[in-house]
Amino acid sequence: MTVPELYQTDLFRPTYRPYQGERWEMRIAPMCICGGYWSDALLVLDMAALMRWHGDEKRTWMSMTPMEIESQEIGCRFASGNTIVMGLGMGWAAANAALNPAVTEVTVVEFDPEVIGLVESMGVFAQLPPEVTAKLRVLQGDATAYVPDRPVETLLADIWLPLNGDDRIEQVKRMRANTGATRVYYWGQEMSIARRARTLGVELDVSTVARIVDEIGLPLIGPAEMADYPERVARAARRWLKDA
Ligand SMILES: C[S@@+](CC[C@H](N)C(=O)[O-])C[C@H]1O[C@@H](n2cnc3c(N)ncnc32)[C@H](O)[C@@H]1O
Repeated sequence: MTVPELYQTDLFRPTYRPYQGERWEMRIAPMCICGGYWSDALLVLDMAALMRWHGDEKRTWMSMTPMEIESQEIGCRFASGNTIVMGLGMGWAAANAALNPAVTEVTVVEFDPEVIGLVESMGVFAQLPPEVTAKLRVLQGDATAYVPDRPVETLLADIWLPLNGDDRIEQVKRMRANTGATRVYYWGQEMSIARRARTLGVELDVSTVARIVDEIGLPLIGPAEMADYPERVARAARRWLKDA
């Protein structure tokens, strides 16, 4: 058996600690092997995971696995200007968007006050350089209804539990209309693109991805920024595409 490589990233991974609250729990796994979004299985050390109770069932909403990080990193790396992050979770995407020098400010809209308190109590944003922390603010509210008081450049949306979801494009369009964002990255957008390609019976390449993104009708970050975006979509889809 080959031992998977150690997962490493230049992106910021905050230090988290175990937490047990009313609805949410944070756990730290000392070592695990996890498949990435487009990477092969990797060894991850001190992997933090945020879980929420749904009735009798506990589900993972966010974690420091390569899958979660790779599936959001394009948005963080290419965000710019005034940026809105829908869904706080572990604060990872918000922190990494704020670390991007092209981003001037980050407003996070989060539904659940317990999550806001959890991220605050773990000092997630306080672990950043002060000038980066100063870019961040968290508001309690509904991401699908939030209307900012100033123009927004980038919308990063991740409010969902499953990666695949058939009403996602409509929800993101509502957020985009509310915020007026000129650039958008949403969690699972690669699945939307790959699903449409499958329906159309076309291979994923630069022109089919451009056509599908045009049809989706959102100014998606990815195709123009990453030369290998179609290959990444295809690789992620082979692992993660499910019927919505
Ligand atoms: C998957 S987590 C976000 C993870 C985050 N991207 C990160 O980097 O840690 C989704 C978050 O969205 C929140 N959420 C779900 N529905 C929401 C809504 N309608 N408005 C605002 N927040 C919402 C959840 O409470 C949860 O904190």
